[in-house]
Amino acid sequence: MIFTVAIDGPAAAGKGTISRALAARFGFAHLDTGLLYRAVGAKGGDPVAVARSLQPDDLARGDLRTLEAGQAASRVAAIPEVRAALVDFQRRFARAEGGAVLDGRDIGTVICPEAEAKLFITAAPEVRAHRRWLEVGGDEEKVLAEVKERDARDMGRADAPLRPAADAVILDTTGLDIAEAVARAENLVRDRLNRL
Ligand code: C5P
Repeated sequence: MIFTVAIDGPAAAGKGTISRALAARFGFAHLDTGLLYRAVGAKGGDPVAVARSLQPDDLARGDLRTLEAGQAASRVAAIPEVRAALVDFQRRFARAEGGAVLDGRDIGTVICPEAEAKLFITAAPEVRAHRRWLEVGGDEEKVLAEVKERDARDMGRADAPLRPAADAVILDTTGLDIAEAVARAENLVRDRLNRL
């Protein structure tokens, strides 16, 4: 069975948690596409050359989850040649036999417009910053500023800007706990599976 779940949305909206839960629940493979951009940004050097020669080891570095790696990722992610170099890998993953969940910014719009289920997960910036701060610690105001800066760059870039696909279901997790957000996402996927 070929079945793609596209999960898009701004930083720290809950995409990762929801994607992992969906993959476990339905037995699908999961790809955190942000990790690709984080790995390119973290490696340094010419980002286009790095994106074209990215290796599995590059994704296993321990420092890809930091605020700095997030900022570096969103800077290299605005370069069209970097995005182009990462498209084929993501498309193959999305359409591989057995079902796949991909989370990112442009999965439902660019990488896999034909995805059978599309979710756009969002939440108020303050709520997202608080969640990210619980993970990374430090100064919460700085985390909020970082989240807002990254949102603005991701939404404002010319190539594959962050926006919901026309056929995406919007899930605002501002007032939801994890269990409720996951339950709603599961309902959507179950509904789309029933339509096959
Ligand atoms: O999701 P995560 O916070 O790990 O993504 C880091 C950055 O990578 C994002 O801020 C965004 O600029 C970029 N990204 C992207 N397209 C994706 C996934 C991530 O441009 N599909």
